[in-house]
Amino acid sequence: MQNILVTGGCGFIGSNFVRCLLNEAGFPGRVVNIDKLTYAGNPESLADVEQQHPDRYTFVHADICDREAVRDVFRRFAIDTVCHFAAESHVDRSIVAPDAFIRTNVEGTFILLETAREQGGRLTLFHHVSTDEVYGSLGPEGYFTEETAYRPNSPYSASKAASDHLVRAYSQTYGLPVTISNCSNNYGPYQFPEKLIPLMILHAAEGKPLPVYGQGRNIRDWLYVSDHCRAIWLIMQKGRRGGVYNVGGRCEIANIDTVHQICDRVDEVLPDAGLGPRRKLVTFVKDRPGHDLRYAIDCSKIEKDLGWTPRETFATGLRKTIEWYLGNRAWVERVRSGEYQRWVEQHYGR
Ligand code: NAD
Ligand code: DAU
Repeated sequence: MQNILVTGGCGFIGSNFVRCLLNEAGFPGRVVNIDKLTYAGNPESLADVEQQHPDRYTFVHADICDREAVRDVFRRFAIDTVCHFAAESHVDRSIVAPDAFIRTNVEGTFILLETAREQGGRLTLFHHVSTDEVYGSLGPEGYFTEETAYRPNSPYSASKAASDHLVRAYSQTYGLPVTISNCSNNYGPYQFPEKLIPLMILHAAEGKPLPVYGQGRNIRDWLYVSDHCRAIWLIMQKGRRGGVYNVGGRCEIANIDTVHQICDRVDEVLPDAGLGPRRKLVTFVKDRPGHDLRYAIDCSKIEKDLGWTPRETFATGLRKTIEWYLGNRAWVERVRSGEYQRWVEQHYGR
């Protein structure tokens, strides 16, 4: 692996992964990041990396659905490895407007696979970053394993399931060297503040209502983003070609408990006499349609086969995440106001 194409590197996990590759993982080669810069992609999230590694990091503003643009990137940078993050990622948006999910997640993945296939033996690996949501919803018992049947419930998870199947098919049919990871809910720096944890941190800090869907009894299995990035890199280096790896934090928490923990921590670091305990801001709102009850990953395969374990606990990860959001208000304000999109228009003429 010398020239890695990262797709969606200006998003939450992609930007953390690029930083991990170039600063921590000991990867000596070049990273090319192709990103369309949707509302969720902010090039400022990698401004530090761009400055530190001008020879080893390149950003290309393009859509993965644009076949010629993708081909051109493979050609110009002699790409030998792909790590594919680019996607529409927010379940609520997929319920309201599924079109972009089918286009980017299904068609975009197809175009990347086709271009990877055109490289023949030059392509060493296509790693596909996917989600535990493809498995559907668990009841109170049991875990998702790599053998669990797919039962996606939202347009988002159905589009990710379709992309996983395409990746598998390219491995079986054309012998493309692939790996797939299915990971649970991530949290940490640079996550777009429409997702539960950053939304609640910011609303709690600002004294705004904390909208909890239904009764807040749905359970998510949380993993700090850098632990996910280390897992991906390990799979890329040592994972069995054609292999699927589940990644999770063994950290199941009901949403209401997550929100309460955030409130308590924000009370500690930002005491506000006028506001009182932030738990009072919790507002139960209409539930998400088709809301999956519980996710819980059995990650024993990656633990046993590759020796991966998470480094952060929920307490340490949440502490870091709260600190990051409270300490990076400029980034937050720019993504929330769309200010960075105006910057993108000026710089990239869109
Ligand atoms: P994100 O929404 O923060 O970022 C997505 C990035 O993809 C953005 O930079 C966006 O501009 C880019 N993008 C979107 N459409 C594109 C297109 N057509 N061409 C090029 N770039 C495009 O997403 P995330 O949370 O960082 O998720 C990254 C990947 O990880 C996704 O594939 C997602 O399914 C998967 N995943 C996410 C989680 C999670 O908890 N966030 C968990 C497991 C798996
Ligand atoms: O499991 C992995 C998935 O995790 C990823 O594949 C997705 O890309 C990522 O968005 C995430 O999906 P979720 O739907 O679980 O994440 P979200 O942050 O939207 O919601 C987490 C839980 O919190 C979910 O049960 C819905 C609930 N929720 C969410 C929001 C935004 C609320 O109660 N209130 C809210 O305002």
